[in-house]
Amino acid sequence: MVASPSAPAVSAEQVRKIFPPTDGIVTDSAGTLALNGVNLTVKAGEFVSLVGPSGCGKSTLLRIIAGLTEATSGRVSVNGVNVSGVDTDIGFVFQDPNLFPWLTVRQNVAFGPNMRGGWRNPHAADIDDLIQRVGLTAFADALPHHLSGGMAQRAALARALVNRPPVLLLDEPLGALDAFTRMAMQDELRNLTRRHNTTTLLVTHDIDEALYLSDRVLIFSPRPGRIQEEMVIGSGFTRARNAPGFVERRLRILETLHFAPTQADLPESADHWKI
Ligand SMILES: Nc1ncnc2c1ncn2[C@@H]1O[C@H](COP(=O)(O)OP(=O)(O)OP(=O)(O)O)[C@@H](O)[C@H]1O
Ligand SMILES: [Mg+2]
Repeated sequence: MVASPSAPAVSAEQVRKIFPPTDGIVTDSAGTLALNGVNLTVKAGEFVSLVGPSGCGKSTLLRIIAGLTEATSGRVSVNGVNVSGVDTDIGFVFQDPNLFPWLTVRQNVAFGPNMRGGWRNPHAADIDDLIQRVGLTAFADALPHHLSGGMAQRAALARALVNRPPVLLLDEPLGALDAFTRMAMQDELRNLTRRHNTTTLLVTHDIDEALYLSDRVLIFSPRPGRIQEEMVIGSGFTRARNAPGFVERRLRILETLHFAPTQADLPESADHWKI
């Protein structure tokens, strides 16, 4: 890919996606309208999260940006170049870990560097470091079917990060982790994406995760998905989950998603919830 330095790292203009009618899905004759007029830009090095209800088209949008699915209409570009197929500059962590079942954790993580030149590849030295960062050193020689769901997700994250892709698309990469491991992985993700100035688009159902990691949070409407609201997280934002600004933004996102508790639902003692 020949990058255009002035272009946004990721751009989507008026993206629309209709899936044709499929057996087992009740749709009108045109099929399933998954996305309807999505516009977004992500600057180089920016970390942007997408939150929205299940089925609103978040994974579909990531797959279109990755060149894995074609938009029905609209324009998508990465580093100023129209997306027309899979691009090795883009790293992708799928909602399902999708590890190669016949390869060990280390071989899965090493797959990309090996494809690009084996141990001569400057990033190859990262393999064991990344396996350690995701807490899988003891399982480096294990096959995927010996891993828990959360361990497989961490292996998939290491497999994507080892390539140091300029653009990283993450689809619920930490969804199967327990709360403590998830927070540790969020810190690793934040440190590594900042260190390598990785442009990152993260789909998550965890609003705290979105607030903790992002420069901006984009809130999707229910299907057909479009971006309903944008929340800019300033550089002075206190990334502590109990900070007043954090709690206030969490509630604002929940309100936008229509899941906010009403004042009447809150226990009397929960004054800090009331804004
Ligand atoms: N290959 C496909 N064929 C037909 N319909 C599809 C296909 N992929 C997705 N869809 C439909 O598109 C809509 C959006 O799906 P998508 O997976 O993008 O949602 P999502 O926002 O990622 O949901 P979740 O949060 O549950 O992962 C859904 O109605 C889904 O049924
Ligand atoms: Mg999805």
